[in-house]
Amino acid sequence: MCSIIAYAGQRVAAPMLVQSLKRMEYRGYDSVGLATISNKHILVKKGVGKVEEVNKSLGLEKMNGSVGIGHTRWATHGGVTDTNAHPHQNCKNDIAIVHNGIIDNYSELKKSLITRGHKFRSETDSEVIAHLLGDFLHKKYDIKKAMINITKKLKGTYAFVAVFDDGTVAGARFDEPLIVGISKDGYFVSSDVLGFIEHTDKAIFLDNDEFVILNDNGHAIFNFDGSKVKKQVTQIAWELADAEKGRFAHYTLKEINEQKHTIINALFSKDSKLDEFCDVVAGAKRVVLTGSGSSYNAALIAKQLFSKYAGIHCEAVISSEFQYASGLLDKNSVLIAISQSGETADLLQAVKIAKASEARILSIVNTPTSSLARTSDLFLGINCGPEIGVAATKSFTAQLALIYRITEILSGQKLSLNRSDLERLVSKVLNDTKYIANIAEKIKYIGNIYILGRGLHFPVAIEGALKLKELVYVHAEGLPAGELKHGPLALMDENTTVIMLNPDDETYSDTLSNVHEIKARGASVIGVSNVNSNKYDNWIKIPKAKDILYPILEVIPLQLLAYHTALKRESNPDYPRHLAKSVTVK
Ligand code: F6R
Repeated sequence: MCSIIAYAGQRVAAPMLVQSLKRMEYRGYDSVGLATISNKHILVKKGVGKVEEVNKSLGLEKMNGSVGIGHTRWATHGGVTDTNAHPHQNCKNDIAIVHNGIIDNYSELKKSLITRGHKFRSETDSEVIAHLLGDFLHKKYDIKKAMINITKKLKGTYAFVAVFDDGTVAGARFDEPLIVGISKDGYFVSSDVLGFIEHTDKAIFLDNDEFVILNDNGHAIFNFDGSKVKKQVTQIAWELADAEKGRFAHYTLKEINEQKHTIINALFSKDSKLDEFCDVVAGAKRVVLTGSGSSYNAALIAKQLFSKYAGIHCEAVISSEFQYASGLLDKNSVLIAISQSGETADLLQAVKIAKASEARILSIVNTPTSSLARTSDLFLGINCGPEIGVAATKSFTAQLALIYRITEILSGQKLSLNRSDLERLVSKVLNDTKYIANIAEKIKYIGNIYILGRGLHFPVAIEGALKLKELVYVHAEGLPAGELKHGPLALMDENTTVIMLNPDDETYSDTLSNVHEIKARGASVIGVSNVNSNKYDNWIKIPKAKDILYPILEVIPLQLLAYHTALKRESNPDYPRHLAKSVTVK
């Protein structure tokens, strides 16, 4: 989604703002812009393209002033054009704003502003914020009063930051993240800690219904009703180095490789809240899991494991559908929300619904300072460090590892392997990549790929298909192998490629029968298994392991396959088209 960054301090703002936008570019990136203040004049430069391209063509870095705002846009309202890029200004050009989220009532606000003589330049919903603030200020309101009043008018979800030509910066948050960074020589306001972590590890996380004002007097935070709020300064633990590519060509490859550590970290988590988390799950009358995308796929695996090993039968509901599943929860229920970012709008809405039903909220999340972690009754961190590649890789396997650990505690059984065996198995899968690149070469122009598995392998099949869709832009579908005969078999012919997830566990012989059926229709089969079969046209060999570990061992080659196929098709796996890392709009 869009990224926001602002700086007010003693240093020249623009070079830092550009650097911050580059760091956060993974969140959404069709256009970029900056506004800085010099001699009480607001200068705006913006355009379509990547931060580096726009910086080169417009000289963003060279803009003067020690106060400024910056933005990368992921279009929602209005096409990808220079004019629709942020920042947006009011008619008098004495205010500039950047916004992340959606203003639901913008057309009604816009109509009334136009009637009052305002002239709009863009097609965005965001521009109303600049004009409304202008309206309030020109009624002789001070900035604080203007902020109180604008928050009464705006409906929807937003984090926005405004700069005023007197050098004041003000930012408000409602259902979109906004964080204040406090450094020795100034303040930052950002939608992501990565926006300022290079300069400071001290942060204040705004909660919903709060706004901040930064001026010569320092910072002040208020509730939307204008009452002052005393906020805690949080020390952010993540190291900057974790967000660098290091020796790897892409973040995605770096993050896939980090799994030899991140899986172990999550599985052997020493989180003191683990027992309490499991007690709450075990004591609940009903347990519902939720998540979006890969995090939902992890929830599907949790559902099977909790039921099979701990006798806890639960439901997994995809977050975007949660609002339609009525009467799911009550005060004796528990919602387990799973998320890498902890900022996914659909998921946060599911949490809101669950809270209204008085259910307890437990979460499994990577970002300990996220909205999800902060609104949960109890959260467990997967602690895999920042994930920059848009496709979830290390966060998915860390979620699985923590789910294994929870299953062990819930069931009272030791289910997974010891640390050194697991390290060896994961390293083995990660190191055997040469033949995966060869398979990528063979499938790079295939238009339809099916991934089939049974039991625990079915959610992995969906996850593998999601990686191929995101990174390779190919139609890929994960299906339960047993459903083949109920329809999808009709799709099989010599132009079809099918990936079969088939290690030698309880699903092995049934899935092998499906392989025979598929081969009989002329399709090409890639087998992912510890056992070879003469029916496979290509074999992705994974090591023999305890059954429960196969989802981790088979998803890693699927991640690598998607990564290498993306490279063969010359697309950048870190920045898939049309996608953003944290989906903070519904
Ligand atoms: C898939 C992917 C997305 C996310 C989904 C949820 O590779 O990256 O489908 O899994 O947007 O995001 P989080 O886990 O941050 O809630």
